[in-house]
Amino acid sequence: MAYAHITGWGMHVPKKILTNDDLAQMVDTNDEWIRERTGIHQRHIADKSDTTASLAVEAATHALRMAKLPPTELDLIIVATSSPEYVFPSTASIVQDQLGAETAGAFDLSAACTGFIYALNMATQAIRSEQIKTALVIGSETLSRIVDWTDRSTCILFGDGAGAFVLQASDEPGGVLSAVMRSDGSGGNLLAIPGGGSVNPASSQTVLDGLHFIHMNGNEVFRFATRVMAAASREAMEKAGLEMDDIALIVPHQANYRIIQAAARGLKLPMERFAVNVHKYGNTSTASIPIAVCEAAEQGMLQSGDNTVMVGFGAGLTWGSLAVRWTGPFEEAKPIKVRPYRRRAWLRSVLRRIWRFIEGLVWGRGKDSSA
Ligand code: ACO
Repeated sequence: MAYAHITGWGMHVPKKILTNDDLAQMVDTNDEWIRERTGIHQRHIADKSDTTASLAVEAATHALRMAKLPPTELDLIIVATSSPEYVFPSTASIVQDQLGAETAGAFDLSAACTGFIYALNMATQAIRSEQIKTALVIGSETLSRIVDWTDRSTCILFGDGAGAFVLQASDEPGGVLSAVMRSDGSGGNLLAIPGGGSVNPASSQTVLDGLHFIHMNGNEVFRFATRVMAAASREAMEKAGLEMDDIALIVPHQANYRIIQAAARGLKLPMERFAVNVHKYGNTSTASIPIAVCEAAEQGMLQSGDNTVMVGFGAGLTWGSLAVRWTGPFEEAKPIKVRPYRRRAWLRSVLRRIWRFIEGLVWGRGKDSSA
């Protein structure tokens, strides 16, 4: 059976930074309250030109370059996101087109902030069952587009960004060792975007009522998060046959510093064993774990051969964890440039649209072209 190794990783955040002091100009809050209650100092916010797909493509470009894997060799792209470009088409299909991943399947995965954990496990299982050899898993968000900037209880928490992993099959043991995926839909109302779906289809009334924004019962979500983080981490370790001392680093979802502290207390581990960057980015939902992994690897907190646990929670309610033996790029691979593939992908996409238009003229619009 093949193992699914993480051979490339990359992140991308928008340039614009919104500090707590900036937020204090917008709503009734202050830097001290936000730092004390959340640990957040600032967050990155999408510019007009940034979208969930554009951030994802940039993060993916870094990850593919590190893995030395051309996009044309990808078999699968999964984008975990809570702020997709559209209800459909999937953000993953847009990413597939922009990268020129001509032979990859692509779909979005919705499990809120736990989405990256779920997506990584789905890609791992596809590799382990030998259905595919390579996968690109991305967490990408433009949460600033779905946050109510007049609601101080939510708007201080979230930020935008993307993180991506390349997974590749190998006979060598390692990579993703175990996974835990859980859900408790009875808490669905605690964190939701109530409008725009089939229950409350978008209308002028749903917009007037602000149903297209994130609605959250912060205290309940906080209690749930502190309950599940340590237990899920332990479960992933046990499934992988690892002890606490075998784990070099825990990478938790970056929602609130106090939630990470509670997880550390639950696991009886010092905070130094946790990757923490919530102060710089806020809660970037599905992107928070891969961004934290990228920074931890860059700072030398994760070395090839280290065991790590990634653990997240989010709306659904959902939670999950993974035990991973960190690998790094396969040594035999040769360096590649990804941007030329993206340029070719752009041209290919334009030509396909033109060809589709010409076909429409030749065959007649609306007629079955196979007739
Ligand atoms: N600035 C100043 N005061 C504030 C602010 C603010 N931004 N927000 C709330 N307050 C006030 C409240 O009105 C309240 O005032 P009151 O006592 O006069 O009523 C007081 O501060 C305390 O409010 P609490 O909600 O009890 O504050 P708490 O310490 O619980 O912190 C927070 C709130 C930060 C939202 C916390 O509950 C939390 O982090 N919850 C988890 C949220 C989370 O992780 N969500 C993401 C899940 S992942 C996903 O799927 C997207």
